Amino acid sequence: MKTETTVQSLNAALAPARLARKTIGFVPTMGNLHQGHLNLVLEAKKLCDIVVVSIFVNPIQFGPNEDFDNYPRTLEADSQLLAEAGCDVLFAPSVQQMYGDQPRRTAVVVGEITDVLCGRSRAGHFDGVATVVTKLFHIVQPDTAFFGQKDWQQLAVIRQMTRDLSFPIDVVGVPIARAEDGLALSSRNGYLTDLQRKVAPKIYQSLTDAEHALQTQSSLADALTQLRASLTKAGFEIDYVEALSPDLAPVTAFDQDIVLFVAAKLGETRLIDNLLVKYTEH
Ligand code: PAF
Repeated sequence: MKTETTVQSLNAALAPARLARKTIGFVPTMGNLHQGHLNLVLEAKKLCDIVVVSIFVNPIQFGPNEDFDNYPRTLEADSQLLAEAGCDVLFAPSVQQMYGDQPRRTAVVVGEITDVLCGRSRAGHFDGVATVVTKLFHIVQPDTAFFGQKDWQQLAVIRQMTRDLSFPIDVVGVPIARAEDGLALSSRNGYLTDLQRKVAPKIYQSLTDAEHALQTQSSLADALTQLRASLTKAGFEIDYVEALSPDLAPVTAFDQDIVLFVAAKLGETRLIDNLLVKYTEH
């Protein structure tokens, strides 16, 4: 695996693949990799000739009170995992390489679907994500880009942006990787105490209970009430518990496929998860 830290050296590394018209799969990450990221790499390997992974902790997607400075930076361990997973090129630029010295005056802002869910409590977060992913798409010029469904809203934002800006890139969503007890894998799980780690899987259990309630004729409102109550009882501080359509439109009843979304804190650690609930007419 090659590791490149500048746009110029990345271009040089990708030139032979581009010349030979090989397809490029791209997995953008912020590092601190776990099996969820590696699943994205494996999916990219299945669908593309060459796999490029970026590791860049993007300052402009963190709010002033978020964990940018403390975000785990584990480049050496990440490189090893990526090499083992079969990544061809790792792009690990510095903040200076990505944003330079001059003030940045352009941002990519995706409307409406960034005002719901995480967008409500993380002002500017999705502008930061859309802006850096746009830059990375221009730099890497992939054929296909891979994102985890754990950040369902992020995936929806990237799909919308890719369509709106006519990027010739297929965006592929990859299912959530879970620990054996159901906890969605996340870099933030590392912040949990042993006790919190034992409680954390309750999010997924509550989501699957809500799914079961919906499939056995509960109303959507009742299922959401039950979901909130179960999380509060387990000790979570709820940020949101909501149901939306897969493309993030409001829903009032379970009469189509819906996604159940949870963001909740255990101590200082904010966890998110979601579950797609399929609707079948009876
Ligand atoms: O999901 C992430 O790790 C980040 O939001 C992304 C897509 C790499 C953009 O910085």
